[in-house]
Amino acid sequence: AQTSELGKQTQLTEVAGILLQTATVGNWSQIQNFQAKPDDLLICTYPKSGTTWIQEIVDMIEQNGDVEKCQRALIQHRHPFIEWARPPQPSARNAKDTMVSYYHFQRMNQMLPDPGTWDDYFEAFINGKVGWGSWFDHVKGWWEMKDRYQILFLFYEDIKRDPKHEIQKVMQFMGKNLDETVLDIIVQETSFEKMKENPMTNRSTIPKSILDQSISPFMRKGTVGDWKNHFTVAQNEIFDEIYKKKMEGTSINFCMEL
Ligand code: A3P
Repeated sequence: AQTSELGKQTQLTEVAGILLQTATVGNWSQIQNFQAKPDDLLICTYPKSGTTWIQEIVDMIEQNGDVEKCQRALIQHRHPFIEWARPPQPSARNAKDTMVSYYHFQRMNQMLPDPGTWDDYFEAFINGKVGWGSWFDHVKGWWEMKDRYQILFLFYEDIKRDPKHEIQKVMQFMGKNLDETVLDIIVQETSFEKMKENPMTNRSTIPKSILDQSISPFMRKGTVGDWKNHFTVAQNEIFDEIYKKKMEGTSINFCMEL
């Protein structure tokens, strides 16, 4: 584990085979007993898959595109993480870009274990030995669930390719009907460039002792295909083999580059 002022908290502990942060493990029974109300909206994402992005999109829709209202509080307070069960979230992103993003996040997040070298991290990630568990299990689980419950399954890559179309889907799912002009505002305000500059979404108010953005910014690149700058040819082949095995039998299809 990484040494920081909050040293001990970088330890992850397993619950039902999934590594979780100490704060989550301590509150597990409360979290597991969470009862949703019929009109609750849960955003369920694997880490680094665009959680913050979809949070901002959902709030912009909820607030009818009112930019000022969306400035009322930090994103993590507008949509608190259920697993932290403090006063206070399926979107999927392809596994390779998620792995890269997660690696850089663990480098800068002093509350999570040091990721080690990229090669070490590659191993940990494909074996699901990272916080919040296996990407494969998360994605497969929600994909299988999506037709049985009221679930809108979104892909990071689709939002990137055609934000307006995907935002419209979220809007319809939320039972909202906003004008084209409002939709255009939401597209603009939730762009990577805007959210990188927005103190309510870029995590700039979190102290350096927790998120050290000089190591790697929270709003890092926001692109599809950055994995090509990290994966070796051999790693890519190993990954594709493992992916085929682990995702066998699912109809899910990920876009790896735009
Ligand atoms: P990168 O590290 O690849 O840049 P999460 O919010 O789940 O932690 O996900 C973080 C990832 O989403 C980061 O990816 C971040 O840059 C990206 N992201 C955040 N806001 C975005 C936006 N508006 N458009 C595209 N990507 C965004």
